[in-house]
Amino acid sequence: MSKNIIVTGGAGYIGSHTVIDLVESGYNPIIIDNFSNSNFSVINKLEKICAKKIKSLNIDCTNKNELVKKIDWQNILGIIHFAALKSVSESFENKKKYFFNNVESTRVLIDIAEENKIENFVFSSSCTVYGSPDLLPVNENSELKKALSPYGETKKKCEDLIKNSKIKKFHILRYFNPIGAHKSSLIGENPKNKPNNLVPLICQCGIGKRKLLTIYGNNYSTKDGTCVRDYIHVSDVAQAHVCALKNMIDKKNCKEVLNIGLSKGISVLELINLFEQSNNIKINYVFGERRKGDIQEIYADCKLAKKKINWRPKNSISQALVDAWKWEKKNKLS
Ligand code: UFG
Repeated sequence: MSKNIIVTGGAGYIGSHTVIDLVESGYNPIIIDNFSNSNFSVINKLEKICAKKIKSLNIDCTNKNELVKKIDWQNILGIIHFAALKSVSESFENKKKYFFNNVESTRVLIDIAEENKIENFVFSSSCTVYGSPDLLPVNENSELKKALSPYGETKKKCEDLIKNSKIKKFHILRYFNPIGAHKSSLIGENPKNKPNNLVPLICQCGIGKRKLLTIYGNNYSTKDGTCVRDYIHVSDVAQAHVCALKNMIDKKNCKEVLNIGLSKGISVLELINLFEQSNNIKINYVFGERRKGDIQEIYADCKLAKKKINWRPKNSISQALVDAWKWEKKNKLS
């Protein structure tokens, strides 16, 4: 049986970490990435970590012709589809671009999977599909409220396409807030433009690339007025994909939607404090306006992932913050 796994967006943040775990578990990842928000140097770093050549193709996943031409789909065991635009704020400014890129790429990959009878499909979704939940923690049966951003709408739409497709076996993984970096500090979160996410911004403040972090809102109805999230080490998120693949490969049918988080709700202020304690560094911050599209409070119930795919996160939030900081320091020097 072929061990070839297509990893779209495999040069990106979560994709690249997953490539390592796939190799370590005996799979042969083939990366497809258009490098719109990632750097080709990631591939070299992956080859260094894995001590192996990693095949990568520069293709946009909305381009079916190119995908069909360049890949022998008959010889593919599974698809893990990460490739997507992921900035909540940019999605308000460019809704069409987000819909086209995220939804069309998913449609194309479903088509290809159906045409070639590729049965194992893992989709990278987000807790954003829960919108602003009434009850916490959220589990997979929680109501999917109206998405708070066009980005969130695209994830919901893609989930629906997969659920309504003819693909027999899929896992939809709803990530909470992946943070941190690989223990080698060779790969981590490295967006091309100004980061939107909290931890890379904290790191940039720590290293002096930015003077001040703005905390978006301190008047939410939460423990300290700042938003609450479920932060989880990116390597634990990556591991969930391998667990999902292993779970479905020998099955006839398997359609799972799973939360992937640490199941701990912590506030922005608590996260900054933990970063300071874990890394012995001071972060300067101010309180600013709320950010459009932000959910007040969300954290996961992940019992189902533990039960269904035998996945257990291994790293603490503090460890993730140590790894994020190590990566930032190393990345600055390289
Ligand atoms: N935050 C700040 N200041 C910043 C950046 C972020 O206070 O400069 C706050 C946000 O307001 C939020 C928290 O830090 O309360 C986390 O923000 P992130 O941008 O790191 O993460 P989000 O929770 O907003 O977004 C993440 C993913 C999205 C996904 C979303 C679902 O990045 O892809 O979770 O809630 F859609």
